Amino acid sequence: MTQLNGQVALVTGGARGIGRGIALALAKAGVDVAIADLERISGGAQQYSTDTIGGFTEAQKTVAEIIALGRRAVAIQADVRQKADAARMVAETVNGLGALHILVCNAGVVSVAPIESMDEDTWDLTFDVNAKGVFLSCQAAIPALKTHGKGCIINIASIAGKNGAAGLAHYCASKFAVVGFTNSLAKELAVTNIRVNAICPGILRTQMWEYLAETLKKPSESKEDAWQRYIKGMIPLGRPQTPDDIGQLAVYLASAENVTGQAINVDGGVELH
Ligand SMILES: NC(=O)c1ccc[n+]([C@@H]2O[C@H](COP(=O)([O-])OP(=O)(O)OC[C@H]3O[C@@H](n4cnc5c(N)ncnc54)[C@H](O)[C@@H]3O)[C@@H](O)[C@H]2O)c1
Repeated sequence: MTQLNGQVALVTGGARGIGRGIALALAKAGVDVAIADLERISGGAQQYSTDTIGGFTEAQKTVAEIIALGRRAVAIQADVRQKADAARMVAETVNGLGALHILVCNAGVVSVAPIESMDEDTWDLTFDVNAKGVFLSCQAAIPALKTHGKGCIINIASIAGKNGAAGLAHYCASKFAVVGFTNSLAKELAVTNIRVNAICPGILRTQMWEYLAETLKKPSESKEDAWQRYIKGMIPLGRPQTPDDIGQLAVYLASAENVTGQAINVDGGVELH
């Protein structure tokens, strides 16, 4: 196992939710962390109401938490859909923290839309953030990772990258894309000793599931009832996952020198492949 103390990670979408959990877990393992996030998700297909989203101030709060743990941290405003932003977030990480050893591609969006009535903006936003964002972030980071003769990329896919779900075809397709991209990139980069793995989280009550519970609730149900229905109905272990659960696997993958090309579920037993 690689010692992580003193390594540097860049976590996209690290301001809140799963990304924040991964950033804090890495920091507790001795890693300095750059958080890349954007001010707001803009565009016609914006899926959350802006009053529930803290924006870039959330990234600065996460940075303050990492510094309180005794590690160095920087917040970088970047939109993973933009090639120039991806290049700049890597450059600012290396300039600010001295190196880049671990890239975590976590930024993602969700929305619920049946295919027959889905507008193109919804499809495009989902693929631009969830799939193209991973491609651009990896492409930008590879030269910096290569300079150490080894490196680690962790892409956050989903159980929706292993199995389809009604109303989520665009989201599932984007997450299947992340799993396929991860498998392929692992083979392509093996010769450089850069390992590439994916984590497939199950159900976590982040902003993403606040939105999903509200959107998927039946007319007779409260949002809380809908949340409980999904937890009890879908998860064999009967409990939701936490950002720290995902962070623990990220720490393992960052240190596991013989693990590459995997897409590992952290889902309480929902998906068994
Ligand atoms: N919550 C779950 O149950 C769940 C399950 C499986 C997979 N995931 C995946 O985990 C990842 C994190 O999700 P979460 O639940 O923490 O959601 P979240 O909405 O709380 O966090 C997503 C983060 O990504 C950022 N982001 C969105 N678009 C961006 C862009 N274009 N550029 C940079 N940053 C951007 C947001 O600002 C936010 O900080 C996503 O990829 C999501 O698909 C979540």
